[in-house]
Amino acid sequence: MVETNNVQDAQRLLDFYAAKSDFPKPDEDKTMKFAIALPLIAAATLSSVPVLAYEGDWKRGRIYYRSVCTSCHVALPIGQVNPSGKTKAEWAAYMKADKHAKGKDTVKQYVSKDYRASIKAGNKAAEKFADVADAELLQDVTIFLQRGAKDGEAPASCN
Ligand code: HEC
Repeated sequence: MVETNNVQDAQRLLDFYAAKSDFPKPDEDKTMKFAIALPLIAAATLSSVPVLAYEGDWKRGRIYYRSVCTSCHVALPIGQVNPSGKTKAEWAAYMKADKHAKGKDTVKQYVSKDYRASIKAGNKAAEKFADVADAELLQDVTIFLQRGAKDGEAPASCN
């Protein structure tokens, strides 16, 4: 792992300086070590800062939408719910409101791990993405819907 290597590098460099004969005497030792270590630790820390905003994977969102959302819609009176049936703004508002099936439940619940676990025996996508974080999968579906909207980059059907 990158972080570990950087920390190890920092330690190795410190050891290297400590081993040098002209390295400061013990009383100055701490301060010097600190002065050397600080930028190294800062660099190691910076390189291990996680990417905070998950951007989403529309391809995974598309698979999930078509396999999980659509498979239920077509089995019920609602029928197909095509992404291209709404504009980007309409999808954004819909996902934000999170009121699914006229407010009977939520969209979030259908991307949740619990829901995936409950259908994975008979649904390949739910099984494949069983361990994906809820928030990530929700984002995947959200950006797929943006992309597939009427005025999106690639208007999409639901299957
Ligand atoms: C368990 C079945 C089921 C699943 C899974 C499901 N839906 Fe639905 N969905 C429905 C039903 C039923 C309706 C129609 C409700 C009505 O018209 O009374 C609906 C309607 C909708 C509508 C039309 C507007 C509305 O809310 O009534 C959208 C959009 C929608 N679903 C999106 C999604 C998305 C996105 C997912 C997947 C993350 C999803 N649905 C998963 C059953 C499901």
